[in-house]
Amino acid sequence: MEIAVLTANSQLGRALVPELERIPGWRVRPLLRRDLDITDVTPIARLFESPPAVLINTAFWATEDPEPALRVNALGPRLLAERCAAAGTLLVQVSTDYVFDGEADRPYRETDPTAPRSVYGISKLAGEHLVRAAAPDHLIVRVSGLYGPGGSRAKGGTNFVSDMIGMARAGKAIRVVTDQLHSPTYAPDAATTIRQLISAGVRGTVHVSNTGACSKYDFAARSFELAGLAPDLHAITLADLPPLPPRPRYTVLAHDALHAAGLPSPRPWQDALADYVRWLGENGET
Ligand SMILES: NC(=O)c1ccc[n+]([C@@H]2O[C@H](COP(=O)([O-])OP(=O)(O)OC[C@H]3O[C@@H](n4cnc5c(N)ncnc54)[C@H](OP(=O)(O)O)[C@@H]3O)[C@@H](O)[C@H]2O)c1
Repeated sequence: MEIAVLTANSQLGRALVPELERIPGWRVRPLLRRDLDITDVTPIARLFESPPAVLINTAFWATEDPEPALRVNALGPRLLAERCAAAGTLLVQVSTDYVFDGEADRPYRETDPTAPRSVYGISKLAGEHLVRAAAPDHLIVRVSGLYGPGGSRAKGGTNFVSDMIGMARAGKAIRVVTDQLHSPTYAPDAATTIRQLISAGVRGTVHVSNTGACSKYDFAARSFELAGLAPDLHAITLADLPPLPPRPRYTVLAHDALHAAGLPSPRPWQDALADYVRWLGENGET
């Protein structure tokens, strides 16, 4: 079975490629943006001259500028979905907790109403809807607070944890919000669960995050503790930040769809974070 991973150098793609390559009988086709721009029909048509059985789309554009956001995060997945539907390819579209408004007081289920507030969230939700409409054979995986080796290319090769540890090592004062709660997702753990979902033939929309929830402040504080750092850390609230772009206050994800498929939740966020901080120390990424 051939699985195309777009892009193989994204934070999640870097974890997916080795995770999928370990499975006997699975062949991974790693793709970069320079091989396939998802907003351009020509390279997409070229990919489907020899269609993969599965195409995982991690590509996205993190912006509050509506035009590129909608082009990359909505039009791109639609173009992929149309081709996947015609070729009988399963499209795995990676999405985000930012499709929710953040006003809930319990973890969001896959079936809960969406109401994104940011341009980025609106564009990712549009991508979800367009994939559902164009490709009946789809798997939409929503992750939250993604971090892992290599960092996010959209964030210049960093993520929240590597940023925090980098700032602490540089002796900077650090201000982090106490009233924004989420379920952080370690990319290698998400890759394992995506591999399990594909193996199990799951379809539809599935939340994938590490188990548990924390505020951004708690996440930063635990990162410093694990790294043996004691920075000048200050607790602030969302009200201390500029109002734009809107940040959902609460985006903890429930794992109903995973459990309905008989799959386990990824491990607790504290265990995943410990692995990543160890990895950062060994690889000098901060
Ligand atoms: N990072 C987070 O905190 C977070 C949180 C929740 C959900 N997510 C979702 O998780 C997924 C993966 O995030 P990530 O952090 O792993 O990504 P990432 O490391 O920031 O990488 C994004 C990738 O998208 C590629 N790309 C951008 N525009 C493209 C286009 N027009 N055609 C083809 N490729 C294009 C980039 O290529 P170049 O680098 O070559 O430009 C890059 O390889 C995304 O769908 C995102 O919405 C992420």
